[in-house]
Amino acid sequence: MDLKQLKAFIAVAKLQSFSAATQATGLSQPTLSRLLKQLERDLEVVLIDRYHRPLQLTTAGLFFYDKISALLIELDAVTHMTQRLSAPSKGLNIGFVPSVLYGLLPEVIATFKQQNADIEVTLKDISSYQQIEALKSGEIDVGFGRFAHQDPWIQQILLRHERYLVALPKAHALAEVKEQRLLDLANSHLILYHQTHLPGLINTDSTADDTSMSTRDKSAKQSAKSATNSVTDSVTEPLLYLFAQHGITPLRTSKVSDLQVALGLVAAGEGITLVPASLQVMRTKQISYQRLIHENVTSPIYLHTLKDFTHPKVSDLLTAIYEIYEQRGITYRRQQFV
Ligand code: BEZ
Repeated sequence: MDLKQLKAFIAVAKLQSFSAATQATGLSQPTLSRLLKQLERDLEVVLIDRYHRPLQLTTAGLFFYDKISALLIELDAVTHMTQRLSAPSKGLNIGFVPSVLYGLLPEVIATFKQQNADIEVTLKDISSYQQIEALKSGEIDVGFGRFAHQDPWIQQILLRHERYLVALPKAHALAEVKEQRLLDLANSHLILYHQTHLPGLINTDSTADDTSMSTRDKSAKQSAKSATNSVTDSVTEPLLYLFAQHGITPLRTSKVSDLQVALGLVAAGEGITLVPASLQVMRTKQISYQRLIHENVTSPIYLHTLKDFTHPKVSDLLTAIYEIYEQRGITYRRQQFV
């Protein structure tokens, strides 16, 4: 079995057609056919059901496709990383999700540039999940996002938790209420805007104070917790997840393409939404931003880099971030790269 055969198989399996795969790979149809036959012979397994149109994979073929495509993506990442190790990028390419642009990102970049005048910085607006692929392919050296990632190639540093605020139209009955409860917002039309959903089965409950409880209290808490968990486990939309953690399902929701659109609709009086606190400068003529009483209703900010190859300037970037947090009195926990 060799790499050429595997790449031919992946192309045919993905495109479900020999002729489409010839264009994608630049190989002729007889060559593709021969490579696939050799692969099946080496494995002693039929991978493709050639009698169906479009072509279909056999059960064994589907399994092989899943595993081999993951391996080839890794191989690609290793190749890029090896090339970069011998010639690291001279500039620093930074990926970011739009919501951090309204917060401290501009200040972070300005401080970093002041301290590192010799390095060219490029900024790229990339969604959280796309940042992971962009790190692997070398498109960016570091990424700022709001979602945790479980990827063996990636290391993440949790920079801080930013409180969510409620954004309400100025004419809303609750617009002047200073400390809001999620429960009181459940009847308002909630506008959702996240494009990235949370991976399933998140359990953020703390059992730190369980030691002082009786066994009965503990088991009551446990069953209440299980009931809440069974709800939150199935909720992957980030704002609905925050409500679900408090046992609340908003009565009416709708979904828009991004945060700017959501705030535009709030400004137009269409509904309410929750946004990280740094967004409270947007459309202040029409929108009232209020705090929530719940301390755990927060949006984390992460810094992501590759685990095995961190651009040498990323530690200076982290120092600039911590300096700004210190100057502004922002609560954070200092972390280091592994
Ligand atoms: C922050 O708001 O904490 C932040 C935003 C972007 C980069 C680093 C930190």
